[in-house]
Amino acid sequence: MADLSVSLAGLALANPVILAAGTCGYVREMADAFDLARLGAVTSKSITVESREGNAPWRIIESPAGMLNAIGLANVGLQRFLAEKLPTARGLPCAFIGSIAGHSIDEYVTLANAFDRAAEIAAVELNVSCPNTSDGLQFGEHPRALTELLAQVKPCVRTKPMFVKLSPNVGDIVAMAHAAVAGGAQGLIVANTFGAMAIDVETRAFRLSRQRGGLSGPGIHPIVVRMVHDVYHSVAKPARVPVIALGGVCNWRDAAEFILAGASAVAMGTALFIDPRAPLRVVTGLEKWCAQQGCARIDELVGAARAAELPNVLPNVLPTVRA
Ligand SMILES: Cc1cc2nc3c(=O)[nH]c(=O)nc-3n(C[C@H](O)[C@H](O)[C@H](O)COP(=O)(O)O)c2cc1C
Repeated sequence: MADLSVSLAGLALANPVILAAGTCGYVREMADAFDLARLGAVTSKSITVESREGNAPWRIIESPAGMLNAIGLANVGLQRFLAEKLPTARGLPCAFIGSIAGHSIDEYVTLANAFDRAAEIAAVELNVSCPNTSDGLQFGEHPRALTELLAQVKPCVRTKPMFVKLSPNVGDIVAMAHAAVAGGAQGLIVANTFGAMAIDVETRAFRLSRQRGGLSGPGIHPIVVRMVHDVYHSVAKPARVPVIALGGVCNWRDAAEFILAGASAVAMGTALFIDPRAPLRVVTGLEKWCAQQGCARIDELVGAARAAELPNVLPNVLPTVRA
């Protein structure tokens, strides 16, 4: 059997399959569907300092190749998370990654300090897709804003790895990855949802109450494969920082593609809404794939994509030009 275990900046996972932030509840909700021991890790939904109701319905709608969501970071807030949700992470049979989000540097600092102290949390994930309330810039869409954020937050995360979840809604995700690593990120999560919109052509109404949302699911997968490849080769590989890829992983082939592009681990979100047990099939599929590729360890395949070989005899695909 191939060895699927991976280490993400010292965070040891039994296998590279993770449940994505915001799509699997706070901690153990998916245990109703399967034994969490079969996963690498679970990620909490993003926690903010104050509790948030989130946006009004509709805040999730289907699209032909995925879904749009504008949940608006609905969560119970830091104090209730620590008191009511976090204790359920004790004895979790896989790693637990805590995700934090804020609208100011002070909020991130408060959350990072609390998560660093919490023994149940094995790594801290920074969701940087919120606009800073003081300047309106999204922390994750402007290198300067990200640099300023990490300068304050990284010193708070001392006892465990800190990962930064990059936004795909930027012209140059490699520049954001550089800023994240320069600021102390020990893992790069590629990526969050893509800014999107849907309109009902009969009523002419925006289908999401907030009008704008984020697209996830199979439709974004090939775009994220390209981003993972670029971030891996330009930033992560030289800096020896792992990439965690997510975007439309529905089966083991999607996950394997991310690994070949440069991901050390993959996360799944939208697929859980279709079949909560899909991650189990990804784990078993990766195991077989790894063995078929002749690899003893899955990490041998990280970034192993190569140029296609030209066949010796080119197939006759061009129409014959007749004189
Ligand atoms: C309903 C829903 C809620 C989400 N909530 C969060 C969240 O709280 N924090 C976060 O960082 N990402 C959140 N995301 C983004 C996912 O973690 C993931 O980055 C994105 O959905 C792409 O992966 P996928 O195509 O496998 O779903 C959410 C996505 C969905 C669909």
